[in-house]
Amino acid sequence: MASSLLSSTTNASLSLFPPQTNYSKSKRRISRVSCNAANNNNKDDLNISKGHRRDVLIGLGGLGAAASFTYNPFAAFANPVVTDPKSCGLPNLPAGAQPIPCCPPHIDSDNITDFVFPPKLPPRVRKPAHLLTPQEAADYKEAIRLMRALPEDDPRSFTQQAKIHCAYCHDSYVLPGSTAPPQVKVHFNWLFAPFHRWYLYFYERILGSLINKPDFALPFWNWDHPDGMYIPDIFNDRRSSLYDAKRNANHLPPVLIDLNWNKRVGDTSGDVDANLSKVYTNIAAVKAPDSFFGKSFTPAAAMGTLEGLHNTGHSWTGDPTDPNGEDMGSFYSAGRDPIFYCHHSNVDRLWKIWKDKFEGEDFTDDDYLNTSFLFYNENSELIRVKVKDCLDSSPLGYTYADVPIPWENAVPTTTTSVVPASTDNPPKLPLLLNSVTSFTVKRPSKSRSKAEKKKKEEILVFEVAFDKSKDVKFDVLLFWKGGDPTKATPKNREFARSFVNVSHAPSRKDLNANFTIEISDILDDLKVDDQDNLQVTLVPQYGVAPVTINNAYVSYQEHHKFRK
Ligand code: C2O
Repeated sequence: MASSLLSSTTNASLSLFPPQTNYSKSKRRISRVSCNAANNNNKDDLNISKGHRRDVLIGLGGLGAAASFTYNPFAAFANPVVTDPKSCGLPNLPAGAQPIPCCPPHIDSDNITDFVFPPKLPPRVRKPAHLLTPQEAADYKEAIRLMRALPEDDPRSFTQQAKIHCAYCHDSYVLPGSTAPPQVKVHFNWLFAPFHRWYLYFYERILGSLINKPDFALPFWNWDHPDGMYIPDIFNDRRSSLYDAKRNANHLPPVLIDLNWNKRVGDTSGDVDANLSKVYTNIAAVKAPDSFFGKSFTPAAAMGTLEGLHNTGHSWTGDPTDPNGEDMGSFYSAGRDPIFYCHHSNVDRLWKIWKDKFEGEDFTDDDYLNTSFLFYNENSELIRVKVKDCLDSSPLGYTYADVPIPWENAVPTTTTSVVPASTDNPPKLPLLLNSVTSFTVKRPSKSRSKAEKKKKEEILVFEVAFDKSKDVKFDVLLFWKGGDPTKATPKNREFARSFVNVSHAPSRKDLNANFTIEISDILDDLKVDDQDNLQVTLVPQYGVAPVTINNAYVSYQEHHKFRK
């Protein structure tokens, strides 16, 4: 096993990183498969890797092999990602966080069982948390109460379940064939959706076994429906096991969640229509897997719209009086709030809806499919799971209640029909984003035919460097003519997308990320597809002081399948 891992590591590094010399910046293309090419010249990551060159003669000791090889900075990011149980170490936590270890208890890496699908039974039906029957709510509370009562070192305990998120999100697991960094990460890349699906799968089964109800289903926080856009009542009873004191005291019902929350002091309540448009733009309107899920586990990170949308739910829920926004507002602590799992249940549901109703497709890359994670099951056995076994949720034995999807057609409206004059005003790069900034980006082509658009999506790409231990949000507006740009909301068609980071591992201070936006439909709706330049306005909202835009360009991305 070790030698095959080693060779796949080396081969992957060769095939995934072709020479880049022929690419000019404005013409770079992003390919759907092994989308690493555009990230190859990522200087900061290279420097980080070089800085650790002395650590680089590594045996794959954790997997019991004696082999060692010379470090290759790119090979270190090899796919598939395999979690090595012996590699778990202390997490990288931000200042102010209690320095506690996050690794699972008593790892016996000789005793790992490969996942087998559960017997086929009627599916466990996950329901909106605000629509549970009294019995269902009581079962859920009792299950969490029992989970909290387990001894702390029981891998099924509330504490250990919360630590899973800390370990996978704060650099506890080192990639096989490497020492830190790089580490296994499940945010800002394509592992986000499958990792959290598996996490909830085991969590739900543990809860069901604790109350002896194998059909127990984890509820979901239905924040994409007006009736679910507040913290569900079951979480607000101080005497209940579902209560967590570390939440934003200004965000209790009847305050609606704001899916575009800008952390402004004195904020009141979210806006139903803005929330629905936000979900529309980040789920229904998204076409390519790259855009929806983010990209491969590569030196420069790229998160998808699903993850970006979900990030605001974290920041909005966490306690702003805590320096790190505990519990929900930081990834090391998020799992300590029971609402975290219901938040992710909805994220998981949106993945399913995207595929079932909006023709979304999963990645088919082998590296993706064979990435594996470890979880303890309801019998405290350590189970190795693979991404490929979770892409369809039905063999996992659960489904979601079929509730209305009010955002299905919540297309934002155009603020103005004035067609702006096409002037040339390129950004001065690198651009330090400390105020509202407008500039133009050249479009290599315009007024493309319907057939061309069907074949290739027009993508606006930003190369962003920022401190990932900080909460960050900035918004991207296209052809904004509606007055004060800070007043733009997701209800405006010009509001293209937000970049949102939730504080996580501070180890690699400046994270380089590719931030991409599908723009063909927006340009059509704004009737500006005949323009030579994109008019871009960046609106910093919070945490942006250390954000730098290193590049901005338009590229065309081929789709294996394109929606009508
Ligand atoms: Cu692992 Cu909601 O994040």
